[in-house]
Amino acid sequence: MTPRAKLPPPTKSLQQLRVVIVGHVDHGKSTLIGRLLYDTDSLPDGKLQELETICQRRGTAALEWSFILDAFQAERDQAVTIDTSQIWFSTATRDYVIIDAPGHREFLKNMISGAAAADAAILVVDATEGVREQTKRHAYLLSLLGLRQVGVVINKMDMVSHNPERFEEVAREVVGYLKSINLAPKTIIPISARHGDMIAERGAHLSWYRGKTLIELLDSFDVANPPVARPLRFPVQDVYRFDERRIIVGRVETGILRKGDKLLFSPGFETATVETLEVWPPREEKVEAHAGEVVGITLDERIFVERGHIASHEKNPPMLSNVFRANIFWLSNKSLKVGNSYKIRYGTHEAIVSVQSIERVIDTNDLAQHDKPAEVARNAVAEVTLRARELLPIDPYIDNFRMGRVVIYDGYDIAGGGTINMEGYPDQRAVSQPKSENIYKVEHLMSANARAQSKGHKGGVFWFTGLSGAGKSTTAMAVEKALFEKGFHTYVLDGDNIRHGLNGDLGFSPEDRAENIRRVGEVAALMADAGLIVITAFISPYQADRDRARSAGSQKFHEIYVRADLATCESRDVKGLYKKARAGEINDFTGIHSPYEAPTNPELVVDTQYNNISTCVDQVLRYIEDQVSLKNEKKKVIGL
Ligand code: ADX
Repeated sequence: MTPRAKLPPPTKSLQQLRVVIVGHVDHGKSTLIGRLLYDTDSLPDGKLQELETICQRRGTAALEWSFILDAFQAERDQAVTIDTSQIWFSTATRDYVIIDAPGHREFLKNMISGAAAADAAILVVDATEGVREQTKRHAYLLSLLGLRQVGVVINKMDMVSHNPERFEEVAREVVGYLKSINLAPKTIIPISARHGDMIAERGAHLSWYRGKTLIELLDSFDVANPPVARPLRFPVQDVYRFDERRIIVGRVETGILRKGDKLLFSPGFETATVETLEVWPPREEKVEAHAGEVVGITLDERIFVERGHIASHEKNPPMLSNVFRANIFWLSNKSLKVGNSYKIRYGTHEAIVSVQSIERVIDTNDLAQHDKPAEVARNAVAEVTLRARELLPIDPYIDNFRMGRVVIYDGYDIAGGGTINMEGYPDQRAVSQPKSENIYKVEHLMSANARAQSKGHKGGVFWFTGLSGAGKSTTAMAVEKALFEKGFHTYVLDGDNIRHGLNGDLGFSPEDRAENIRRVGEVAALMADAGLIVITAFISPYQADRDRARSAGSQKFHEIYVRADLATCESRDVKGLYKKARAGEINDFTGIHSPYEAPTNPELVVDTQYNNISTCVDQVLRYIEDQVSLKNEKKKVIGL
């Protein structure tokens, strides 16, 4: 026996709408689903009789529509099919799929993993009980996942004597909550799922209600069109080899893939042109594949491609980043904690990430926010920052709802998931992608050692990082002067100064900051190579940028964290910028609207919050002198 109520006639399949029915336990979801199937004549043959028998056996006078789902459930438990969580019904207008799952947790996992991407949702609220805990949690999840077509049904109107005032009261309560989480329901309908009022028929008891029935509401929703108008994303599912041919298989998630297109495979930078499109069974020559289609392609060049790579056009590629934020819903019994590592998956891409920080946790019940908590417990909603070791190809959810969803695993189990948000973080593509070809390095004729001997000390990059107002420039300039007076060759590269000249073309967007630090990292490395003691004073808020500066400076690079917390820097506010930022006159201000990632493993920490400036200067001075001293070098050589 098939677990499906009814297979959709093929002619209607294009108009199929996927709907989720959510709400607090016992508010009537199963009854509503059973009733929808019955009212739309979508019950498979024999099901109604089966239901009547069950009801007689259990001694219930009226038909219990929720038993239909129990009956489906029994079948599903035995079924080995994949589609077990889908129930079909049809109206005169089109076909519907109700996305359901055997258990509450399974259902949430399906929603979160995107296995159950729905076009619309119906939130069921019990007229006697009003909004309850899961009403809010489910509504929040709809909001988090960006579901905009939401209808509310106030169920069990028969149990409140079909009273319009009670309906108004509960409706106000629901709308109040939904509004606070940016959800605007299309319609709120009083219904009695058990008796079938306002489902397909209007019924006799709710004549004071003039709006749509549930079926009319469902028929008014739009089916989400396959996102063909978005930039192309073709996540590689598999690479097959047939003789000499290599076929790259995947599903076009967004956009259109055409024969002859030049594709870029992120996170790499290699490109190749699509030679053929392959489909099974082979049809006449296929020249394009649209969003939603599974297709194989062959390329004109043998570039490196593997599962998880995301193909795009060169012009509109995914961002590259090793850090991103996610708005997540946490399902696991084991709390998510800072420092924990998890496997994540989006599209076909998998990576290991660690939790860099938990920005805030939101209690879905009262919407209270707790900033910087140590952990996220089960059923909580949170904004977290996740970091990977390597660059990941990323599309934020607001740009691409198919790719911008992330699932977090603990072992093999879905522990949570949500949407990717890149606000405050740069696309690192521009600063990572090599542009030049046919270039060759030329060797200097003096060694680093010869330069150091002539200056009397080694060169080095002493990279200050910290919030604006932490004291980077003040300390750097004092250290420079002290070193100079002792005969060292030194120079400070300071953010505000460099932004007047070399980096005058850059602002404070995440990408501009990344470029700011990339250039300074390279310049500092060159100056250190020339034998100078370079001290840099830049906020340099992103770990990835500082890491890049470190690799440019190789062993000569030292990260120095000039530490003072946000409250301290804000209270100093030497340049009056925090005040302006709080007043909304400066955007992207570090620490306020833009992130600052404190170094996790700096060579030196200078604490200006608790120490006065001369103590800090002495501390840095001692450190630098020790690092650039040639005596140490000799000791090391002798020690060998
Ligand atoms: S970085 O983030 O790209 O490293 P940088 O150190 O060059 O910044 O410049 C920071 C200085 O620019 C601050 O000390 C402050 O005086 C000024 N500034 C202007 N706008 C901003 C902003 N939005 N965020 C931080 N600093 C800003």
